[in-house]
Amino acid sequence: MNEKLLLDNLRCIPDWPIKGVNFRDVTTLFKSAECVKEICDDMYELYKDKGITKIVGIESRGFVMSSALAIRLGAGIVLCRKPGKLPCETVQESYAKEYGMDTIEIHKDAINENDVILLHDDLLATGGTMKAACQLVKKFHPKKIYCNFIIELESEFPNARKEFGDDIEVSSLLKF
Ligand code: PRP
Ligand code: MG
Repeated sequence: MNEKLLLDNLRCIPDWPIKGVNFRDVTTLFKSAECVKEICDDMYELYKDKGITKIVGIESRGFVMSSALAIRLGAGIVLCRKPGKLPCETVQESYAKEYGMDTIEIHKDAINENDVILLHDDLLATGGTMKAACQLVKKFHPKKIYCNFIIELESEFPNARKEFGDDIEVSSLLKF
């Protein structure tokens, strides 16, 4: 795991999208072939033996590495989307974000009781998004749920991961 490579390539933008938020811009990791490989390899090492059947990627920045990892793990990909984007019947959850309210949804037939799910997003801040995603996925009663981030803002939001429930194993590649 080459933390320095990822940290050196991560752009931070102060006061965006609103004053007081120090925005971690993972697009600077995604544009680097070396970083994409590093992230994919690190996540593969974490989950290669877990029997993951589907990766639930969270719109939109969670989609990117979900796709790459799904190919490596031989897993399917489920889209957890913002409202009005999925064409068929969905299950929804609403949640409070670092800067506002939002809703996410998954197709009703996307997950079944035999699935071992890896939920993936680029960043854990307040945990509002992933908490909602965990609650959403739990409604499908999969065998097991894992939860992964590229970045976890643990000094700013030390309790974020505690909100997901003791039954969910959480890991992040970078914590600061
Ligand atoms: C950002 C980020 C995470 C979430 C983290 O997404 O990509 O999904 O916020 O915040 P939280 O832990 O406080 O919930 P955003 O909703 O800005 O949308 P995007 O990924 O589509 O850019
Ligand atoms: Mg996001």
